[in-house]
Amino acid sequence: MRKKIVAGNWKMNKSLQDGVTLAKEVEAAVSGINNGVDVIIAPPFIHLTEVKKVISKVKLSAQNCASEASGAYTGEVAADMLKSAGVGYVIIGHSERRSYYKESDEILNKKVKLALANGLTPIFCIGELLPEREANKHFDVVKDQITKGLFDLSETDFKNIVLAYEPVWAIGTGKTASAAQAQEIHAFIRSLIVAKYGKAVAEDTSILYGGSCNDKNAKELFANPDVDGGLIGGAALKADQFAVIVSSF
Ligand code: PGA
Repeated sequence: MRKKIVAGNWKMNKSLQDGVTLAKEVEAAVSGINNGVDVIIAPPFIHLTEVKKVISKVKLSAQNCASEASGAYTGEVAADMLKSAGVGYVIIGHSERRSYYKESDEILNKKVKLALANGLTPIFCIGELLPEREANKHFDVVKDQITKGLFDLSETDFKNIVLAYEPVWAIGTGKTASAAQAQEIHAFIRSLIVAKYGKAVAEDTSILYGGSCNDKNAKELFANPDVDGGLIGGAALKADQFAVIVSSF
């Protein structure tokens, strides 16, 4: 059975002190929710070790990791450093990394392999831009991203991947994919996994939806058979809203 997951991507928000407070609030808000959902938060790097001290039910993710193992890469944080800090997950290939920091499929593929080699679970993001959706190219775009980013992994490695479908036109815009649009492309993504790794692996792969998912629309999105949870940006910065999303299953 694949896992139901709600992950909060804090992006570049919150001071250290405010981040620790939010983490405590999230922990308290979700501690009574027993619907089998894995709850993950992804604060900025500098918050990770302090946040780790105040969570127990909630799991910890980084928002990025380096594409190299170690050495002279000023400003980077390596996968094995994250592991040593008690981090369990890492978001890789977020559209903001792809567009603002020009992270290519090749770079993302290196990051995924380093994360896996260090025992981290990658939350690998894919998703099309608005013009690509309007030109009906979204299926080709996500196929290309998943093929180049992930499909040279062994079956054993692929089993440790969490996918997040995030249409770029829905991120931070207040515009959500409809439940039907989400289901359609999630089912398509799962069919790609079936073709590459077989039905059993595909059935066990969690595919999250991201893009203006909030406490109002989560229930409808998560009701779809191929939507296994959410990667939440803005609504993850309010513990009460985030908890409503977690309880939306
Ligand atoms: P949003 O961000 O929920 O603010 O749209 C989602 C994401 O970028 O992961």
